Amino acid sequence: MDFELKEEHKLLVEMTRNFTDNELIPIAPEIDAKEIFPKENLKKMAELGLMAMTVPEDYGGSGMDTVSFALAMMEVGRGCASTAVTMSVTNMVAEGIFRFGNEEQRKKYIPPIATGEYAAASFALTEPWAGSDAGAIKTTAIRDGDYYIINGEKVFITSGAYAGVIMVAAVTDKSKGKHGISVFLVEQDTPGLTIGKAEEKMGQRGSNTVSLVFEDCRVPAENLLGQEGDGFKIMLADLDGGRIGIGSLACGVMKACLEESIKYSKGRVQFGKPIAEFQAIQWMIADMATDLEAAKNMVLRAAWLKDQGVRFTQAASMAKLFATEAANRAAYKAVQIHGGYGYTREFPVERFYRDVRVTTLYEGTSEIQRIVIARNILGKL
Ligand code: CAA
Repeated sequence: MDFELKEEHKLLVEMTRNFTDNELIPIAPEIDAKEIFPKENLKKMAELGLMAMTVPEDYGGSGMDTVSFALAMMEVGRGCASTAVTMSVTNMVAEGIFRFGNEEQRKKYIPPIATGEYAAASFALTEPWAGSDAGAIKTTAIRDGDYYIINGEKVFITSGAYAGVIMVAAVTDKSKGKHGISVFLVEQDTPGLTIGKAEEKMGQRGSNTVSLVFEDCRVPAENLLGQEGDGFKIMLADLDGGRIGIGSLACGVMKACLEESIKYSKGRVQFGKPIAEFQAIQWMIADMATDLEAAKNMVLRAAWLKDQGVRFTQAASMAKLFATEAANRAAYKAVQIHGGYGYTREFPVERFYRDVRVTTLYEGTSEIQRIVIARNILGKL
């Protein structure tokens, strides 16, 4: 067993850290306050090879491993959670197209994601009546000659208004239940697809979250991803990798909470000494650092398992569950350490507190992660 990062990982961390410090941290407050989708930064990130990281170079990706993806996500998450979630979902879609797509689909859709020609890519599973119960989707895709006609509505779609390509789950055979769901690659300007109003969110306000309405949206049959009926498994398998991304994002925000808390507690004087000298503050800092260490190890182990080509569903759910819950604890403590100032926009911990809240909700709530973990341990009862 070796806990040392490889040289290539260290170089990637250094590059992403510099980018985060120079490009993301300075504009993160404005992105949040004005709900700006960070298009320019995403383009720069594509140029750095951060948007299709785990896709082989032959298909335009960066040919890196999942450990690299997790490490880069942690750095970006430390600077701007809005940018990080956009990066995570875009990578998840690029990987989904690589894993489940045919040669034509890979060659057509991955390069524009990787180069930043597409600002982002989206993953459309959730519907108003199908959130945690993803198998209950009602959007339909009916075959009509060389096309499928899609009708239905998706909600809470990350980057939906900016995505060049969207992975859309739809029912192709209602009689087969979850085995009658299929996935389609839908280009954003396809007639019949309307982008809804952006959600006004508590946090991650620079990320774009919209509904998608499909009204007789004609998608070429060649855009079916994988086989008809495999869609539910494709979406869940792809989400396993996505959950590593969100766990990493949470680690990044946790690190930012810890760094800000250390800085503030050493500078803030009360009762004649820096508050870092009080045990109450020291214990909070110690707990944050311990949670961060545990979360990072869990996320990197899940990433490593994925790179070994073995089933990593349980490890990814455990990592996502632990890291996102721990990040919420850390953000709570960071605000507590900052006192009243932590409740104002003068200090970034106020944003971290809002930004981490959604991490226990999207890509499967903490309750869903526990279901996945329990089923892996006990079997489906
Ligand atoms: N990989 C591959 N296949 C899987 C799988 C996985 N991880 N998990 C389950 N499957 C397969 C099962 O083996 C089963 O196959 P068979 O029928 O052939 O045996 C099939 O899928 C159905 O599985 P279940 O019966 O277990 O399905 P379920 O209805 O009980 O639901 C669930 C399982 C885990 C609860 C699932 O619905 C789930 O993960 N829900 C949460 C959805 C979610 O995470 N949504 C996030 C939206 S995307 C997002 O948030 C991105 C963003 O923009 C930020």
